[in-house]
Amino acid sequence: MPGYPVLPEGLAYGGDYNPEQWPEEVWREDVRLMREAGVNLVTLGVFNWGLIEPREGEYDFSRLDRILDLLHSAGVYADLATPTSSPPTWFRRRYPGSRLVDREGRVLGGGSRHSFCPSSPDYAAASERVVAALAARYAGHPALAMWHVHNEYGWANAHCYCPTSAEAFRAWLRDRYGDVGALNAAWGTTFWGLTYGSFEEVEPPVVAPVGLLTGLQLDFMRFSVDAHIACFRRERETIRRFSDLPVTTNFMIPNCKPMDYWRWAAEVDVVANDHYLDSGRADPHIELAMAADLTRSVAGGRPWMLMEHSTGAVNWQPRNLAKRPGEMRRNTLAHVARGSDSAMFFQWRASRYGAEKFHSAMVPHAGADSQIWRDVVALGADLRRLAGVRGARVTADVAVVWDWESYWALELEWRPSADLRFRERVEAYYEALWREHVTVDFVHPSADLSPYRLVVAPSSYLLGEAPAKNLHRHVEAGGHLLVSYFSGIVDENDTIHPGPYPGALREVLGVAVEEFHPLREHETVTLSSSGTGPSSATGRIWSERVRLAGARAVHEFADGPDAGHPAVTRHDLGAGSAWYVSTALDAESGLRGLVAEVLDHAGVSRPHGLPDTLELVRRGDHLFLINHADAPVTVDGVTGSGVLDGAAYDGSATVPAGGVVVVRR
Ligand code: GAL
Repeated sequence: MPGYPVLPEGLAYGGDYNPEQWPEEVWREDVRLMREAGVNLVTLGVFNWGLIEPREGEYDFSRLDRILDLLHSAGVYADLATPTSSPPTWFRRRYPGSRLVDREGRVLGGGSRHSFCPSSPDYAAASERVVAALAARYAGHPALAMWHVHNEYGWANAHCYCPTSAEAFRAWLRDRYGDVGALNAAWGTTFWGLTYGSFEEVEPPVVAPVGLLTGLQLDFMRFSVDAHIACFRRERETIRRFSDLPVTTNFMIPNCKPMDYWRWAAEVDVVANDHYLDSGRADPHIELAMAADLTRSVAGGRPWMLMEHSTGAVNWQPRNLAKRPGEMRRNTLAHVARGSDSAMFFQWRASRYGAEKFHSAMVPHAGADSQIWRDVVALGADLRRLAGVRGARVTADVAVVWDWESYWALELEWRPSADLRFRERVEAYYEALWREHVTVDFVHPSADLSPYRLVVAPSSYLLGEAPAKNLHRHVEAGGHLLVSYFSGIVDENDTIHPGPYPGALREVLGVAVEEFHPLREHETVTLSSSGTGPSSATGRIWSERVRLAGARAVHEFADGPDAGHPAVTRHDLGAGSAWYVSTALDAESGLRGLVAEVLDHAGVSRPHGLPDTLELVRRGDHLFLINHADAPVTVDGVTGSGVLDGAAYDGSATVPAGGVVVVRR
């Protein structure tokens, strides 16, 4: 049975290795340095299609043969990639029908990667051929640990609008709806009299004069996910004809909005993720923690692989900041703390050519006499000490609802406010929980919620009836629920649930919303306390007229369009409670206090009295303490052996400024 672990022992350490960009004498230096750093796995051949198949049907594996043999002689395993994310230049010229077309109908150019239509039969045939040749040749190679299919599905070519895609979309719709009447009903096409007489009349949602049918847009997004999954399956099944090793592809959680990774997860033997620090943020490590928690959740709680991150700057942000001293180590170990069994980078050696030459690497342009290299070697030693964490699980009492379909739907055009953004609210709630030292799982709203004391739904605009009932049952059974505004508004077709807002959640929340009052840019409203919790909270973005229908007000609006009306409510239902927040509180403007109040009410235990710059995560019997502040912090109640420093902790541990302590009970 293919699956995890992929290496005989320990955590995987390494990165994307692109030796084809270098002369062979550099390869020997590479493997020497890999050994020095303790690298045991490299991702190989990601962009090799044009090199191993220089002309259609003519293969040249000589370079890859030599590299795999060299890696094997050095004890380094290969995560061998299928090269299909970057078709060769001959392919594009030979099969012009495979070219990617964007929403504006522009045929996108070559000289780049990802430049193909995922529904193209020519692409399907050519990619299957090269994958079969590759798999047949290397299936038994002793350096091989796993297969890395493609690279970042849907990154640059998530949606293609070419005639082939249009035809495939219509076939997909026929399959989904059976007859066009069902499609018309689902999309509500009586609106503007846009009723379709046949499937042939349906076009993909290309740029239109104004307001496209939202059901059409959502289904095109679903279809596009399926188109990419079909590409993946084709390659996976081709590999399976030759090899039983684990097969994966690298996800981009949470930064690839078009890919619904709940759907993808079932396809891979091990979930692998690429994450790049958003260095423009104030506290980028909180978004990193969120990405790692979401990846673990997509993996169903099983260990996952961090397939790419960076030692320092990337090359594609507006300002590409180098990591500060200790930051790479904290970043890597935070991923490990949150369930990764690997620490892989893009890339091993910095490129001299092409678009990514200013991207950091494990071996930077400055070479081995550099801080990055010394940090890479030290990180290798840390990871060897952490070998015992492999396979261990992270558990959480709190779940945050994340649904890609809700993400897509919320951000279609013509919503009540341009400030309604899916990640804006999810990240606000995640940050408040992170600062309370609470580790969370993410869940699809129809998931089994029984492991969680508290479920938080910060941005569930789209919520079908069945998932809404799931949340309802969770509360009745004694769970707790915290919901933010503009949730439970539409069903899976973007049709408003009947009656007052928030239709799908009205009963569980015990409220009815009469009118939305989005705020002007920079406008704020103040909340008054009518109970415990924060007394001077400030809301942004949203206010609305909430009528109590079973719930009671916990806070009211003190000013703004809904002054004197409920702002935060609580509904005791069955053995649990459901809380509703109708404005955008931020961690520092009241959300943290409110979240603490709800956590206490739900009986979620967590450490108290620690600075909110300390990241604290338990993975199996390992406790990770990651200090993001410039001052040391002492944590009481810590007993066990220091995994990284060899210290014996008996009652308390001091984590140095910017440092990491891992204690094993
Ligand atoms: C990833 C990609 C890599 C490299 C990297 C740069 O998205 O998989 O090939 O381009 O970004 O940050």
